[in-house]
Amino acid sequence: MRLAVISGDGIGPEVVAEGLKVLTAVAPDVESTPYDLGASRWLRTGELLPETVLDELRQHDAILLGAIGDPSVPSGILERGLLLKLRFELDHHVNLRPAKLFDGVQSPLADPGPIDMLCIREGTEGPYVGNGGVIRRDTPQEVATEVSLNTAFGVERVVRYAFERAVARPRRHLTLIHKTNVLTHAGSLWSRTVEEVSAEFPEVTVAYQHVDAASMFFITDPGRYDVIVTDNLFGDIITDVAAAVTGGIGLAASGNLDASGTHPSMFEPVHGSAPDIAGQGKADPTATVLSVGLLLEHLGRTEQARKVNAAVAFDLSTRDPKAPIRTTEVGDRLAALA
Ligand code: NAI
Ligand code: MG
Repeated sequence: MRLAVISGDGIGPEVVAEGLKVLTAVAPDVESTPYDLGASRWLRTGELLPETVLDELRQHDAILLGAIGDPSVPSGILERGLLLKLRFELDHHVNLRPAKLFDGVQSPLADPGPIDMLCIREGTEGPYVGNGGVIRRDTPQEVATEVSLNTAFGVERVVRYAFERAVARPRRHLTLIHKTNVLTHAGSLWSRTVEEVSAEFPEVTVAYQHVDAASMFFITDPGRYDVIVTDNLFGDIITDVAAAVTGGIGLAASGNLDASGTHPSMFEPVHGSAPDIAGQGKADPTATVLSVGLLLEHLGRTEQARKVNAAVAFDLSTRDPKAPIRTTEVGDRLAALA
């Protein structure tokens, strides 16, 4: 396995080191190549994602990313020039975010019941494509637009992926989350696409919710969800809610997939670079380790993925929730268990 590793900034290198520890414990054939990208490179050299680096990244089977960002970098530079650029250039149209409440993990909800959902967020369209502009900037007549782009092709491929995942899960249930009553143009395309693709998956039952109602149900009845499919912006927001109710940012894993397999997919914890705790050895690497599990699963290494997930499940069920996290100790435990 040729793996490109972008450790990034802040706690990124700390959690990635533990992710690699667990990965090499189950997959000794990994050849990893580190890439220096992120806030520190930009501050040093002004470079974000040079074309030569992008070409090299394309030569790998997968990418593992820690976190990118630093308070000294103006907002938007790294997001647009590096993170979103990677997603668009490598056609990461599926943003996969499982949210499972593991045994032993305390949810902030009083009585959550079992939660095991797979959120599938579109990754290359919607309002995140930079389709907009501004005129009369810094005047009282300033105009700013940010147009949501939705294509039949782009919606269909992510909806199809969601059905494929749903049909392979025990509950075989799929919920479309959108705001079709107000965003009628894009909403209609999403609804019609789900309806059309559903004909090919008669075993999957389909539900629809407006994003505002869904935000409420994520808190009051998260157990109702199995697979969720939604657009880029709604997915960004609701997956943070899903992460919160299943134990928080230290556990939330994600994959940015090119489901066609043409480009390498990229796996990363949902959290950022956490400058407030960086360098203190107390970041929880579990989200990164679960992202490694997604990586292995995506590459068809099902048994290795199972070992990683089982190690995390066992560790969480036996952790003292009040004991402080030591990053390297968690990694050592998970590597030994895997
Ligand atoms: P953050 O996720 O970095 O931190 C939010 C809070 O969660 C902080 O209190 C932090 O200490 C805590 N936290 C995060 N990860 C943790 C872990 N593994 N274990 C324990 N606690 C953890 O989000 P924030 O503070 O909004 O952003 C910090 C920087 O990260 C910014 O520059 C932001 O742009 C960047 N960022 C990068 C992302 C990426 O690389 N994909 C995603 C989100 C933010
Ligand atoms: Mg987000």
